[in-house]
Amino acid sequence: MKNILITGGAGYIGTHILRELSKQDNYNITVVDNLSKGFLEPIDLIKKESKSKINFIKLDLREIEEFNKLKRKRFDIVIHLASLIVVNESNKKPLEYFENNVLGSLNLFKYMIKTKSKRILFSSTASVYSTKAKLPFKEDSPVNPENPYSESKLMVENILKWFSKAYKFNVFILRYFNPCGASSDGKIGYDNRPATHLFPCIVKGALGISKFKLTCGKVNTKDGTTIRDYFNILDLVDAHKLAVESLVKGHKGGIYNIGMGKGHSVLDIINIVKEVTGIDFKIEKGEKREGEIPEMFSDIRKFSNEFKWRPKHTLKEAVENLIKWYKNKPNGYSY
Ligand SMILES: NC(=O)c1ccc[n+]([C@@H]2O[C@H](COP(=O)([O-])OP(=O)(O)OC[C@H]3O[C@@H](n4cnc5c(N)ncnc54)[C@H](O)[C@@H]3O)[C@@H](O)[C@H]2O)c1
Repeated sequence: MKNILITGGAGYIGTHILRELSKQDNYNITVVDNLSKGFLEPIDLIKKESKSKINFIKLDLREIEEFNKLKRKRFDIVIHLASLIVVNESNKKPLEYFENNVLGSLNLFKYMIKTKSKRILFSSTASVYSTKAKLPFKEDSPVNPENPYSESKLMVENILKWFSKAYKFNVFILRYFNPCGASSDGKIGYDNRPATHLFPCIVKGALGISKFKLTCGKVNTKDGTTIRDYFNILDLVDAHKLAVESLVKGHKGGIYNIGMGKGHSVLDIINIVKEVTGIDFKIEKGEKREGEIPEMFSDIRKFSNEFKWRPKHTLKEAVENLIKWYKNKPNGYSY
């Protein structure tokens, strides 16, 4: 039986990973989350169908005493997702972001050192790369975060680099590009409030749940809208499963991009949603976000080749799953 700790496990990505890992009966999973953004309802649902033992503990990583709730338990694997994640907000509230994402991580790592829990998978982001780096972004492309959120992520990456040397941590740093979608039964989905991700906003616009406003300014791409590396969250979940299994076997870790390996524009996504729903919904123009980088996409060959992983799930499928999710829960989770 392997003891796994998931921080931020009540959030968008955490709930999807938890559900997948809990299909196995050889994991004993502890989920911690301060519920500042996450929800308990999906955890309760996952617990009901789980083969693993799942223990949820409300815990705020910023408060070192809160770790006493873990009773000095040693974890075989730590999956560290807890973070504040909104770029624009981080520009206005850098103190909150560094305190939450960096201090919170340091407290976690202190606990890990104390309990000899040395294997960790850290969720980082494509936004650590320099926007001037050559496309596609590779793991050794130059980094240069342009906002406090991305800076906080890179700071944690760097802390982990030194901790792997000094404390013999095995560290997987997964730099996610733009995961999207929901579970294939529509029971687990996206409920960030306010919604900031593109896919959910467009799908909600198509279903008439809320208006979709186009906020990207005109950029120099094929259709004038920004291009990002969107990929299905189910593939992100698969990547985590593989990384966890290899950490269990003693893999030393490394830095890996996780994405589709190609880009889609905002208009491409709007067209996929129109095609899947058959609804030609209205697109209003919102307040433009200026200064965005026109195009960003990943080179995923490092993770693909080493772990025989390929993105298998399409963006069309991501839209279909989001439609199921919003039909199931138009107002999101209730608790
Ligand atoms: N969603 C994306 O597009 C994306 C892209 C790149 C990287 N990431 C990374 O993936 C991770 C998960 O993102 P997400 O989309 O699931 O976000 P999310 O906001 O849905 O989930 C984050 C969870 O962390 C919890 N949390 C935040 N601060 C905490 C603290 N101090 N103590 C305990 N819990 C805390 C929140 O309550 C929430 O449940 C983050 O680390 C994020 O940086 C996400």
